[in-house]
Amino acid sequence: MKIPILDLKKQHQIIGSAIEEAVITTLRGGSYILGQNVTTFEENIAKFCDCKYAVGVANGTDALIIALRALDIGLGDEVITPSFTFAATAEAIHLVGAKPVFIDIDVNTFNLNPELLEALITPKTKAIIPVHLYGKPSPMDKIMKIAHKHKLYVIEDNAQAIGAKFNGQATGGFGDIGCISFYPTKNLGACGDAGALTTNSLELYKRIKRLRAHGMDLRYYHEEVGYNSRLDEIQAAILNVKLNYLNSWILKRMTLAKTYYKLLSGISDLLILPVDDHDLTQNNLNTHVWHQYTVRLKTKSNHNLRDLVADKLAQQGIGSMIYYPVPLHVQKAFSYLNYKAKDLPQSNLVAQEVLSLPIYPELQDSDLEFVSNSLKSILTECCSLV
Ligand SMILES: Cc1ncc(COP(=O)(O)O)c(C=O)c1O
Repeated sequence: MKIPILDLKKQHQIIGSAIEEAVITTLRGGSYILGQNVTTFEENIAKFCDCKYAVGVANGTDALIIALRALDIGLGDEVITPSFTFAATAEAIHLVGAKPVFIDIDVNTFNLNPELLEALITPKTKAIIPVHLYGKPSPMDKIMKIAHKHKLYVIEDNAQAIGAKFNGQATGGFGDIGCISFYPTKNLGACGDAGALTTNSLELYKRIKRLRAHGMDLRYYHEEVGYNSRLDEIQAAILNVKLNYLNSWILKRMTLAKTYYKLLSGISDLLILPVDDHDLTQNNLNTHVWHQYTVRLKTKSNHNLRDLVADKLAQQGIGSMIYYPVPLHVQKAFSYLNYKAKDLPQSNLVAQEVLSLPIYPELQDSDLEFVSNSLKSILTECCSLV
């Protein structure tokens, strides 16, 4: 039995004909840039995220860059964001000329720890970028309260969490701007790169639209220096088809997460399962959309149990991934910021322990039973080794 970490071919086998039809219709239509597919997709995404406006862009990284530019964040400004995230979040801050200020996480949620926020705020702080990591919303009530108190902007990195809810509200609509990635592996993935921004502000919406297309409101009249970051018509056509499935895919991911919880609970003291009290109490006001099902494997006697387990799962045909093995504060790319590993101890710890297991709508309970049984036997074997 082979269970890869993700199997996009399987998804295509199920919905491929509708996607192929949408692509062919677009190709035959002859309109390839900022046409009806993009307009429709933007309307659909705004609705899906309970926001007034959405703007399609080339990828999620550009969405973050454009969000920062739209809020006039640049040279001399500081932006607080987690170290335990994908590099794009901090790259965007760097690329607009601002300084990333890394905040540690809560090990139980993998998201930024709001208790640490105020100590990092300086007169130069302009914004906070919480990341809804693995599909779990950050604590937006506490974050927004602090942001309002200190007059800071909030940009939600919603790359991994489209469709998630916090206190009944969709992620991406709490802050000034939400940024989504439709990278192919995301819960709503394009067949290439794509991204979007969401906002409730008409003013920001207009600025974002201008920035994505060379700073123009009127063709060939450039109000400011912008980007070429347009979502293309073919990707928008594909995403419009896939969006029809997103709610059912999210529900399936939730069901799979519950199954993992049942199968893996209590199997070993060395295995820590992801926290999701909301899902388990059937409270639909707070939903985790399970972009990743990420467990922690405790490091024991200086042996990295996680790496050993990942190797042994691979030997049994089971894919797993480490998101992310090195937190950003100790990455070479950000060494100029002079952080030490111990400055963010929780980010450091989880980077050594996390392992994401296969979770995608095409999986069956029997696949999860195979993964869980393998993990159980590997842990029994490894406990005697480490
Ligand atoms: C948390 C996070 N932020 C930003 C991005 C960047 O998105 P993209 O790859 O579409 O540029 C990603 C996607 O990989 C991500 O996971």
